[in-house]
Amino acid sequence: MAKTLKVAVIGVGGIARLHMPGWEASEHAEVVAGADVDPVVLAEWGVKHNIKKLTTDVREIFADPDIDIVDLCVPNMHHAPLAIAALDAGKHVLCEKPLAPTPGEIRRMIEARDRSGKLLMTAQHFRFAGVSQAMKREIERGVLGEIYHARSWMLRRAYMVPRTSFTTKAQAGGGPCIDIGVHVLDLTLWLMGQPAPVTVSGVARQTLANRRPIFSTWRLHQNLPMPKDFDVEDFAAAFVRFDTGATMVLEVSWFMHHDTEVEDMQIWLYGVDGGCHWPKAQFLSTDYATRQFYNTQLKLTQDAMEPHALECVAFARAVAEGAPSPVPPEDSLKVIAILDGIYRSQREGREVRIEL
Ligand SMILES: NC(=O)c1ccc[n+]([C@@H]2O[C@H](COP(=O)([O-])OP(=O)(O)OC[C@H]3O[C@@H](n4cnc5c(N)ncnc54)[C@H](O)[C@@H]3O)[C@@H](O)[C@H]2O)c1
Repeated sequence: MAKTLKVAVIGVGGIARLHMPGWEASEHAEVVAGADVDPVVLAEWGVKHNIKKLTTDVREIFADPDIDIVDLCVPNMHHAPLAIAALDAGKHVLCEKPLAPTPGEIRRMIEARDRSGKLLMTAQHFRFAGVSQAMKREIERGVLGEIYHARSWMLRRAYMVPRTSFTTKAQAGGGPCIDIGVHVLDLTLWLMGQPAPVTVSGVARQTLANRRPIFSTWRLHQNLPMPKDFDVEDFAAAFVRFDTGATMVLEVSWFMHHDTEVEDMQIWLYGVDGGCHWPKAQFLSTDYATRQFYNTQLKLTQDAMEPHALECVAFARAVAEGAPSPVPPEDSLKVIAILDGIYRSQREGREVRIEL
């Protein structure tokens, strides 16, 4: 089948590499152009993937009538302005997480999406992992009954990207909340069926990041120094109430004396008929009449591709088939509104309301 959708990747650094196998595997879309402010990185990427249309000026991408999809893989602070410009130019947009660091930016992106009639998707790749898809199917069959509580965490022992695009409020918008909190929150809300958050009580603090010595195991062999202007949190915890009456406890950290080499990401969901654990793919229930516990283990088949690649395949398919965005910006607004609530709660020292 001819690949009818033409893709331009904007920001051809780290994460863009994990998107390329997805575009290559897609039966609908292919990458024909790339843009990056770094001409050296861009030229290398162009050679590696045999892409000839290369530019350091993103406006050329937006003005190009041949481009249907923009794959935004730039640092967080550029997500909203570039996504809005791309949508206003009539492109469909797949945007890396976080969709944007603040709820206000996401609302403006949603307005641009509505103006354009194009699709906007957040690259929440964990949803596309086989384990997540299998568990979502089970939950949608109703095996948990009404879900009344979630426990979610993403805790790292000493692992973060020691660059100012991750460590400064100005460039990243926040610390582990924005970097990894979006992953575990998005997955939790999606598995729960997207309840709307109404209040949050949280803390977002710096605990270890500005101690010396300190290190990150990210590219450990390069012995990268920790940026001096580290002004984001490195730890956060929160209690969230939803409109369904359900609650959630959330914990995220980049540096924690926790028993994990790199990172420990877990989600527990508790319903009136059963509980479950991600990523163990385990479902638990109790027959109180016979006093029998049941632990059911899903047996998973191997994923065809990395979830980062699968999300690109899913986006291209949605665009080609005129289907809804596989990860709509409204879902990301809930995630970022909770994180914004944690920051406000930290400042005000009390539980705060969340307006979507
Ligand atoms: N889904 C995931 O698991 C995951 C993992 C890592 C990063 N990310 C996200 O991907 C995004 C990029 O992170 P990364 O680790 O790939 O960063 P990176 O620094 O490796 O790559 C970003 C690239 O964007 C380019 N760039 C910067 N500003 C630009 C602009 N205005 N126009 C065009 N190009 C520009 C840079 O030169 C660089 O090549 C971030 O939003 C990050 O949160 C997601």
